[in-house]
Amino acid sequence: MISFHLNGKPVQVEVDPATPLLWVLRESLGLTGTKYGCGMALCGACTVHLEGEAIRSCVAPLSRVEGKQVKTIEGLSDDLSHPLQKAWIELDVPQCGYCQSGQIMSAAILLSKIPKPTDTDIDEAMSGNICRCGTYPRIRRAIHRAAELAKDKAAADRESPVNEYSAAEAGR
Ligand code: FES
Ligand code: FES
Repeated sequence: MISFHLNGKPVQVEVDPATPLLWVLRESLGLTGTKYGCGMALCGACTVHLEGEAIRSCVAPLSRVEGKQVKTIEGLSDDLSHPLQKAWIELDVPQCGYCQSGQIMSAAILLSKIPKPTDTDIDEAMSGNICRCGTYPRIRRAIHRAAELAKDKAAADRESPVNEYSAAEAGR
């Protein structure tokens, strides 16, 4: 039995610890937002977060996540309110859509480390995520837009007494 936290909740699975995390997420836990592309850590379609870092779940054995925090595209927000999700919708980024959850998960790590990335930052951070439909220009624009939305949200949160109160309550 392997235990870990998935999108903030504890989960336990009885699966061979050598099984790639991607299969466990999709087949055992029913979270199909994370996609299988190459199975060789070459395309980024299977990107998820492990302890706040982007990993390729197709080559990560289940044993690697034992006792740790894993986040998938389903855990980014409950209501499409994450700035990246809003920006992706606003700019209509996907074409076929297959690569996009991996793109968004990689972009989320980029923004957590560099809140206002340059084009070069974006190109470097996203270079391992392949899009066969060539949506790269829209992805880049959407990451810039998400950075703006995140900044606006942070400013609004600072100014709102209600949100301050909620934050104080949450911190208790
Ligand atoms: S499916 Fe994992 S990197 Fe391609
Ligand atoms: S949108 Fe089709 S592969 Fe990226």
